[in-house]
Amino acid sequence: MRRLEGSNPSGGTAVVALEGFHAVKHALRFGADLVRVVAVDREAVARLASELAPDVAAELERVVEEVPAEEVARLATRPPHTGVVGIARRPGGEAVELARDRPVVLLEEPRDFGNVGACVRVAAAAGAAGVVVTGERDPWAPEALRGSAGLHFALPVLHGAPAALDGRPLLALDPAGEPLDVARLPDDAVLAFGTERRGLSDTLRERADAVLALPMRPGVSSLNLATSVSAVLFAWRLGRR
Ligand SMILES: C[S@@+](CC[C@H](N)C(=O)[O-])C[C@H]1O[C@@H](n2cnc3c(N)ncnc32)[C@H](O)[C@@H]1O
Repeated sequence: MRRLEGSNPSGGTAVVALEGFHAVKHALRFGADLVRVVAVDREAVARLASELAPDVAAELERVVEEVPAEEVARLATRPPHTGVVGIARRPGGEAVELARDRPVVLLEEPRDFGNVGACVRVAAAAGAAGVVVTGERDPWAPEALRGSAGLHFALPVLHGAPAALDGRPLLALDPAGEPLDVARLPDDAVLAFGTERRGLSDTLRERADAVLALPMRPGVSSLNLATSVSAVLFAWRLGRR
């Protein structure tokens, strides 16, 4: 395990909003430090929990507080149709452990928060060690948290600090790279993906130990960012003994 300072530009005490039942469910399941959970209809939340998340139903029932719809709307950027919003402390400031037996996803200057959220979600599902995002987009922005359905709490999600990843093989993904051979994908790789419009920077390409491609049918230029993260991570996961 490598120790790495979690980068949190808003400071260690910042809180984030979890918009909707699934975001709150995942946050509870993965040990988020919840400050508050509010709902328009407490009983409706209890019904959803017993149907979709019995493992956290008792805990949710204990913490959820019924409030007027205006209060839920005030806390969310887009009021969720389930009428439930959680407020959780954003992890950061303290040292973060990045497992050495699984890859880290590095997103170089992504622009689209929905893509960032989808990448976090698939990284959590595939069991990646963490997600590191460079550039000005904060991966803990509300739109990104919505896109991950609260799975930011399932693994370290860091903003910046790519230097701290030194010592792990750096594999850059690019449609023009060498065909990816899953059997040769090191478990501790940093898998680097380029920005949506321009792809990888020259700097990252030059620093990489290899530039690899998901082979595509002729005529197709590239995959969407989150789709390519998903394909590589699940190729790694399914190819793992
Ligand atoms: C939407 S693509 C960028 C498209 C850009 N015009 C280019 O050609 O690189 C965003 C990122 O997804 C990854 N990607 C997309 N398709 C890929 C493929 N077939 N093989 C490997 N990586 C791919 C790359 O990391 C790429 O930088």
